Amino acid sequence: MKLLIINGPNLNMLGVREPEIYGKRDYAALCGFIRNCAEELGAECEIFQSNHEGEIVDKIQSALGKFDGIVINPAAYTHTSVAILDALKAVALPAVEVHISDVSAREPFRRISYAGMACVKTFAGYGFDGYRMAMELLAGGERK
Ligand code: DQA
Repeated sequence: MKLLIINGPNLNMLGVREPEIYGKRDYAALCGFIRNCAEELGAECEIFQSNHEGEIVDKIQSALGKFDGIVINPAAYTHTSVAILDALKAVALPAVEVHISDVSAREPFRRISYAGMACVKTFAGYGFDGYRMAMELLAGGERK
């Protein structure tokens, strides 16, 4: 089981950006958390972060034939990007959407998710744990 974990814009600023919303742990801590989850699941994972919409589209396209599933936190592009939605639909790999914060309880513009329309499930508001939940779902809940 090979999982591609994609993080969108400003997630590299975790720990600095709005800690009251996203917590005090930084992006390196998130990557460490994700790698631990993968190890526990006996899965391989690659973690990718970009602040650029086109790079995220390219990465999704390149996943075809290489990965069994995608965990994606498109960050602000969640609410704007038809291109990321179309890329997820194009590769048709099982994808799960994650948000650290509870987007449904924030500004109304955060309630729309384009990427989510191509995802089998969304975990929002569980902090880092949402990534574990998404990875477990894709790995069939199996543990090593
Ligand atoms: C986010 C929520 C988005 O609305 C926001 O633009 C982000 C992070 C989250 O993880 O809670 O950058 O995706």
